[in-house]
Amino acid sequence: LSFHVGSGCQNPHSFAQAIADSRRVFEMGRGVGHDMSLLDIGGGFPGVKGSEPEFEEMARVINAALAQDFPEGTGMEVIAEPGRFYAAPVCVAAVNIIAKKAVLQPGRTRSGCSESGGHRKLLYYLNEGHYGTFRSFLRDHVPRMPIVVKELCSKPPLFPCILYGPTCDAFDKFFNKEVQLPELDVGDWLIFPSMGAYSSVMSSTFNGFPPATICYMMGPELRYLRRAQGSELGPG
Ligand SMILES: Cc1ncc(COP(=O)(O)O)c(C=O)c1O
Repeated sequence: LSFHVGSGCQNPHSFAQAIADSRRVFEMGRGVGHDMSLLDIGGGFPGVKGSEPEFEEMARVINAALAQDFPEGTGMEVIAEPGRFYAAPVCVAAVNIIAKKAVLQPGRTRSGCSESGGHRKLLYYLNEGHYGTFRSFLRDHVPRMPIVVKELCSKPPLFPCILYGPTCDAFDKFFNKEVQLPELDVGDWLIFPSMGAYSSVMSSTFNGFPPATICYMMGPELRYLRRAQGSELGPG
């Protein structure tokens, strides 16, 4: 028997409910003579560090539910199919600002105030967007903040910003909300970590934009491993 609570599960108790339902299905299956011995609890685990709920919290709820409904010693095998959890951390996306527009909104104060008392909002257009690598972002509950690749003063003023992709389509946005970022310029880079899941595989070439370039990098630990195994690698 297998289930999937939904990718990017927000509520660990969905697992507990599905495990309790599975127990009833097991009982029904066994009741009509099926050999019910495997429970597959699917995916749905987080892929980004610090996301809520955390993996450990989910594991606690799942272990408690399994202990209650499928206690050890009953000869049952339990497996999972984590997708995002394994795939997300191995990739980062680097996007470049290709255009920028500043708009002045009257009447609001707080961060981003201009000298005239208005409210400065920045629109950044990036070389990748909703129709490329970032398709899943509009479904995220909380915007994923990028790392800004620029030398800035220690506490730069932040502005409400909207991040757009390059296609000129109205839906080509990273998030439906504004995010707070410093003032950046055309040519600056933003880095989004944990982009190995539901990213390039969901991209299209809409409006003629080619798929993102993928660069493979090897960390020093892997190089040493390859050397130890006898395949010598050149510098870099
Ligand atoms: C059957 C099945 N198992 C596992 C997964 C992986 O899910 P996740 O990436 O949420 O862990 C998926 C994703 O769609 C799926 O359809």
